[in-house]
Amino acid sequence: MPTTQTTSPAEAARVLREGGLVAFPTETVFGLGVDATNEAAVERLFTAKGRPSDNPLIVHLGRIEDWGQAASELTPSAEALLAAFAPGPLTVVLPKRVSISPLVTAGLETVGVRIPDHPIAASLLGQAGVPVAAPSANRSGRPSCTTWRSVLEDLDGQIDAVFCEDSHGVGIESTVVDCCGDVPIVLRPGAVTIEQLRRVLPETEELARAEPTPTATSPTVRSPGLLHPHYQPTAEVQLVNLPWSAVEPLGPGVAFCGLQGFAGVKDLALSAVYDSVEDYAAGFYEFLREADRRSIATILVQRAPNEGIGVALLDRQRRAAGD
Ligand code: TXA
Ligand code: MG
Repeated sequence: MPTTQTTSPAEAARVLREGGLVAFPTETVFGLGVDATNEAAVERLFTAKGRPSDNPLIVHLGRIEDWGQAASELTPSAEALLAAFAPGPLTVVLPKRVSISPLVTAGLETVGVRIPDHPIAASLLGQAGVPVAAPSANRSGRPSCTTWRSVLEDLDGQIDAVFCEDSHGVGIESTVVDCCGDVPIVLRPGAVTIEQLRRVLPETEELARAEPTPTATSPTVRSPGLLHPHYQPTAEVQLVNLPWSAVEPLGPGVAFCGLQGFAGVKDLALSAVYDSVEDYAAGFYEFLREADRRSIATILVQRAPNEGIGVALLDRQRRAAGD
C-alpha cells in the first residue's frame, strides 16, 4: 500500500474516519493515529508497528471537554491536572469508556487520554470527530520520530498517510499519570515534570516510590509498555559522564551527543552539543536516527542531569542503552 504524503488536515481526518492509519505531528513526537472505536483498524496498527498487543495505546482528543469520548469518569485529580497542563504533553489514565476497544487498552479497564498542543494535531482531531488512538509513529522498539522523513524510514508502505510537517517542541513523549486512585502516580516521566505536577497536586507520587519495580511476571504491572525494549537505534548506545578521559581511547566511527563539548577529540564521526537540556531532549531521537543513517557503530550519550525535563530524557537514554 503506498503511503500518501499530505499537508491537509481535512484529508488526513477523512483517512482516519475511513479506518486508515495516519502519522501526524504533535508537540512531543509523531503519533500514528487510528479511530479508537474501529477494531479492525486498531489491529492493523499493531501489525504495522510490530507492537506487542499487551502495550496499551493513548487516546488523543481535540479538547478537554471531549474526555467522555474515551473515559467513563473524569476523576478530581485528572480534572485538576488537565486544567493546568492540557492541551500539552500530559497523558492522564482514567477508567475507560465501554466503546473504546479492549485492543486499544490491551485489556485494561483504564485508558490513557491526551490532548496534544499542536495546531495540526488539534485541527486533525477536531475534524476527525472520533477518539484517535495513537502510539508513537515508529517501528516498535526504535527511537520515536520527530520528523516525517523518519516516520517514512520506519513505516513507508505500512501506513495510509503521513502528514508532511515536522513535530517541533518537546521532542520526547508525554508524562503519563495514573489518575484512577487516591493519589496520582507518574507512570512515565515526560516534559511535565514531577515538580510541576506537585505544584498542582502535592501528593503526586512516582511509580518507583509507589510500588516495587515491575517485572515481566508481576501481576500488578501498571504500565505494561515499560517492560518492552524502547528507543533503541541499531548502533550501540553507551551512556557517559564527562570528563571525557573516562571513555578514552575512541575507536573509529563513534558519535557523541551531550550538553558539554570537550577538547582534544577530533575524529568523531558525528557530534551534537546542545545549549540546554530542552534542546537536548528535542534533538535526541533524531540524533540517534542520524547515527544509524551513517552506519555508526557506537553512540556515546552524555547522561542528562537528573532534574526537571532531564529526568525524562535520562529515562529515554537508559532505555536506548538497553538498561
Ligand atoms: O507524547 C506521547 O505520549 C506520544 C504522542 C504520539 O502522543 N505517544 C506515545 O505513545 O508515546 P506510546 O504508545 O509510544 O506510549 C504510550 C505509553 C506506554 O508506555 C503505555 O504503556 C502507556 O502510555 N499507557 C497507555 N495507556 C495506558 C493505560 N491505560 N494504563 C497505563 N499505561 C498506559
Ligand atoms: Mg512509543
